[in-house]
Amino acid sequence: MKNTFPNHFLWGGAIAAHQAEGAWNVDGKGISVADVITAGSHQKNREITEGIISGKYYPNHEGIDLYHKYKEDISFFKEMGFNCLRTSIAWARIFPNGDEESPNEKGLLFYDNLFDELIANGITPIITLSHFEMPYHLVTEYGGWRNKKVIDFFVRYAETVLNRYKSKVKYWMTFNEINNIYGTENEFFSFVTGGLKYSEDENKKEVMFQSAMNQLVASARTVSIAKKINPEFEMGCMLAYVPVYPYSSKPDDVLLAQQEMQSRHFFLDVHCHGNIPNYIELSWERENITVDVSDEELRDLKNGTVDYIAISYYMSNTVTRETLNSETTSYQTSSVVVDNPHLLANEWGWQIDPVGLRYSLNELYNRYRKPIMIVENGLGAEDTVIPNEKIIDDYRIEYLANHITELKKAILIDGVDVLGYTTWGPIDIVSAGTGEMKKRYGFIYVDRDDQGNGSLSRSKKKSFDWYSNVIKTNGKDL
Ligand code: BG6
Repeated sequence: MKNTFPNHFLWGGAIAAHQAEGAWNVDGKGISVADVITAGSHQKNREITEGIISGKYYPNHEGIDLYHKYKEDISFFKEMGFNCLRTSIAWARIFPNGDEESPNEKGLLFYDNLFDELIANGITPIITLSHFEMPYHLVTEYGGWRNKKVIDFFVRYAETVLNRYKSKVKYWMTFNEINNIYGTENEFFSFVTGGLKYSEDENKKEVMFQSAMNQLVASARTVSIAKKINPEFEMGCMLAYVPVYPYSSKPDDVLLAQQEMQSRHFFLDVHCHGNIPNYIELSWERENITVDVSDEELRDLKNGTVDYIAISYYMSNTVTRETLNSETTSYQTSSVVVDNPHLLANEWGWQIDPVGLRYSLNELYNRYRKPIMIVENGLGAEDTVIPNEKIIDDYRIEYLANHITELKKAILIDGVDVLGYTTWGPIDIVSAGTGEMKKRYGFIYVDRDDQGNGSLSRSKKKSFDWYSNVIKTNGKDL
């Protein structure tokens, strides 16, 4: 059997502007939603403040200062053999408040320089238009994505950057982890994905669905505009793909798992098929939820379907209707989620499941028959630093090797069409969920701690050489 990945497979890493760039108020950048979230931890939620409050610590303000250090970082990526890098454009660098008529030239220039540097080093940029960093002004003035005006603001921003970088960037995706808006009880995800802060007296689910539909319409319009700007563009959507397993073989558990999956597939059904699935329309009817989607918007959804599906994959979830007495160690995304007794978890409770990646790729490919890109996968772990010695991160190597092995099976045995694989955080960056630095994913260590101390110097971990060799052998040596 063939033992390497397809020719031209995209190998690289993925970061997001707000977690890496820093320079939060430099060269005309506006405040983004990420700029008003303090540091937290596994035990303590990040706090979303009303504007920026002096004396509080906001780790995204400085990130890892990639804004000034990108040349050094790109030279590391080149040394590892990356042929692609996924990152995002910070919307608030281009339209500082989000509702201006014309863009901020200095912001545009930064991404010109960044993309030029990548291309000069043989690295294809893969760009997310919105990765948890909408302008904060759109939250305070318009209520975030619940407001249809935000569709027009986003499309103006998207059209601006698609035009500007039309000869530099081919692969785009619209909204990062668009489905993370779904859980209305999760304040962090509601805020970073939708700019949403719910009041107690509103129907949260209705607001969530309205915001989600507004984003899906904005995404579809962006895809249609993109194709006019450059028919060669590859336009994708992006989902947090956490497959859901039944805890037992009881039919009720199996059905529950399938229903839980609908909260993910809803977004993909719209992105890929261009219409709202029956199970969602029926749930709106049943639950008296009114969502305003005009005929024109429905037409736009139909015309703006995506070319490929991008996913993040970190873990699986397991659900049951039964009440279990076991102590929960897993990451709770819903009240029916329980520990899978067959899996171990990382220190943040994310249950590690390489086979789940193969399972997910098959599910997605059978359902949509579109090429897939894995644009996030990795292990958040605390590294032990011994002065003047290389960090030995065998746990990270093991996690990635096991996942890439399953990815290889999905491609070579199951025939899934996978375009590329970018590990999350090839260089240590600020954790989105907790704001910590100690939740590290990188092959490159960054000297910075959870309080913002450290020289920001970069150094290679053991996994650096390992991943370089994976790329060099096109996935043969793992
Ligand atoms: C995804 C996000 O949710 O997971 C990233 O797209 C994020 O922005 C990544 O960093 C890992 O999560 P965390 O909380 O460990 O940073």
